Amino acid sequence: MPKFTLNGREVEARNGQTIIQAAEDHGIEIPHYCYHPDLSIDGNCRMCLVDVEKMPKLTPACTTMVNEGMVVHSDNERVKEAVRGVLEFLLINHPVDCPVCDQAGECRLQDYYMVYGLHTSEIPLAMKVRKRKVIDLGPMVVLDQERCVLCSRCIRFFEEVTETGEMQFFGRGDHVAIGTFEDAPLDNPYSGNVVDICPVGALTSRDFRFKCRVWFLHATDSVCGGCSTGCTVRIDHRDGAIFRLIPRRNPKVNRSWLCDEGRLSFHELNNARRIHRPLMKGRDGVQAPVTWEEAARSIDSRLKEIRDASGAGSLLGFASPSTTNEALFLLKKYLGDQLGATQFDFRVDSEDKNLAEEEDQILRHFDKHPNSMGAIKLGLMSEELGGIEGAIKAARERRIKAAVVVYFKPLVRRPNDEEVEGRIFELIDELEYSVVLAAHEADWQAAASVVLPVAAWSEEDGTYTNFEGRVQLAGKAIEPGGDTLAVWEVFAMLLQASGAESLWMSAEDVFATMTESVAAYRGITLDQTRLPGVVVG
Ligand code: SF4
Ligand code: SF4
Ligand code: FES
Repeated sequence: MPKFTLNGREVEARNGQTIIQAAEDHGIEIPHYCYHPDLSIDGNCRMCLVDVEKMPKLTPACTTMVNEGMVVHSDNERVKEAVRGVLEFLLINHPVDCPVCDQAGECRLQDYYMVYGLHTSEIPLAMKVRKRKVIDLGPMVVLDQERCVLCSRCIRFFEEVTETGEMQFFGRGDHVAIGTFEDAPLDNPYSGNVVDICPVGALTSRDFRFKCRVWFLHATDSVCGGCSTGCTVRIDHRDGAIFRLIPRRNPKVNRSWLCDEGRLSFHELNNARRIHRPLMKGRDGVQAPVTWEEAARSIDSRLKEIRDASGAGSLLGFASPSTTNEALFLLKKYLGDQLGATQFDFRVDSEDKNLAEEEDQILRHFDKHPNSMGAIKLGLMSEELGGIEGAIKAARERRIKAAVVVYFKPLVRRPNDEEVEGRIFELIDELEYSVVLAAHEADWQAAASVVLPVAAWSEEDGTYTNFEGRVQLAGKAIEPGGDTLAVWEVFAMLLQASGAESLWMSAEDVFATMTESVAAYRGITLDQTRLPGVVVG
């Protein structure tokens, strides 16, 4: 672990670190364009020049390893002058169209100009080399060649991460421009990532551009709900609407990347009407609105009636692998510990693994639910029952008479979604009594005895356990409208209606109880579930 001096302070670097990486670890940002922690080092932009004592010339911090006893200055006049020069050079042909650039507010060219530049351009606009603007590069990306600083990050991304190699530099000298060969569409399933890594406004998002200025957005740290990889994301939202998902760097899960379907998955939340109030079937068999208290009292007494008449084995808890660990934990606590139910499952489509669903070696997982592993670890998988097919059979044979079903439409749509909903409907239809917790309306819900409106992904705090057993915290970004409760709150209410102690005021309280009482999660702290998350056994 070499020790070195950085801006007058003695600090330690990890073995093999470059100056830029060690500086970042110690909270010092060295300006850069081409360097990216998850791509190879290219050293082409010269923005990261630093002054290393006993070296005759300034040296790039991204290509220079830290050595024991090195004395580095990243903030002296010599360095600032050099960075100012590089910026002036990069801006020679820049169109300076910042007021109409969607990158404004998160553009490294603007930011560094304000810190290091502040020079007046010597080049009149009319003399600048003009390049092509507003080129649609496939479904995710819009290219503006004039704004490119030729850092090659996008080229390296497609060479090193997706290995599809779509982007290249074309031309020579002043006329070098970034693009795809003959404008071929950029349509690989990870193309949106180049919008994040482009340090300037050359690559912008087709989905997000001009929807909202970034300084109006609020950020909430979360986990993607699109599949069981559980990529670490930031939800950017405003006034109750999500505008975009962007990756939070997590070297243990997704590095700096997201797949395109996950990135756009939040749109699915608006693709169906929401359920706003609890609905309960009356004697006439028609669902009518009721209060939460009425619903909880009635559900608890009806489930107990069925249990007393037909045994605890006649009750089923059918969970959603898209809800949080906290919700699943309380579902089990209510139906299992309180009412004595022994039948639990969550598998609606495990046998469909071979469908033409996409899975790859980069990120995407065939299981399009973020918390299947949580459901397994919390004891919600019954081998004896065998998933939804077994549950339908048991209901048809009257071995199971009542069920509480939590169902969320997957955020990443699959070809068999309708079939899955058909199976849930079949189950509900066979039951004497059914309680469905859902966020969105579906035709089959009319068959349920009770329908309860619950928060969707992004609307409640909680943790998810990804396919490798990593537990990660997801924050609540959006306030759910209407009379909606978080799923864990519904089960806390049912526990209370049932006469059990129900002391949870937040998802954090539920997490604390879960980590005291469930072996797989025992002893982990909420802090450990923040970046990069914690793997449980
Ligand atoms: S388009 Fe962006 S990421 Fe690609 S080379 Fe230009 S500045 Fe770099
Ligand atoms: S790989 Fe899965 S978790 Fe990651 S962004 Fe895509 S859908 Fe979301
Ligand atoms: S960041 Fe070091 S040369 Fe570009």
